[in-house]
Amino acid sequence: MANILVINGPNLNMLGVREKEIYGSTSLVEIEADLQAQADEAGLGIEFFQSNHEGELVERIHKAWGAVDCIIINPGAYSHYSIAIYDALKTVQIPVIEVHLSNIYNRETFRHQSLIAPVAVGGIFGLGPLGYRLALVAAGQIVQAVAGSGASEHD
Ligand code: DQA
Repeated sequence: MANILVINGPNLNMLGVREKEIYGSTSLVEIEADLQAQADEAGLGIEFFQSNHEGELVERIHKAWGAVDCIIINPGAYSHYSIAIYDALKTVQIPVIEVHLSNIYNRETFRHQSLIAPVAVGGIFGLGPLGYRLALVAAGQIVQAVAGSGASEHD
């Protein structure tokens, strides 16, 4: 069975409480439960990880090497300046989908650049929790395409 890893970075554990006018009132627990149901229905394995610490995020990405088929990641503020997360994602060579709840391009200029985008297959921003659902649909198609191409799949 294909394995999808959903990673959320700093402050995303506070969804539902944090700046509701920007991020909405859905909690991360609710988003993850929704994704779990979607993955079950699609026959995909799914794991979740959230951390407020850059090194822990890097270590979780390393652990994914050889064990995960696609990473969906919202790196939070680290998107805009973490070369370490960029390097980790490059290292493991797993397809990456970047998600942002908010439209990072119509906010402060320091959010306009994502260091993660260059290592991502694609990304979704500004669609709130729906972005994660869409990312999971895309992840399912990506792992299917990779399996169909004869590249190795882990179970
Ligand atoms: C975010 C956007 C980032 O700029 C911000 O630092 C976050 C959340 C989003 O999902 O919209 O923590 O990644």
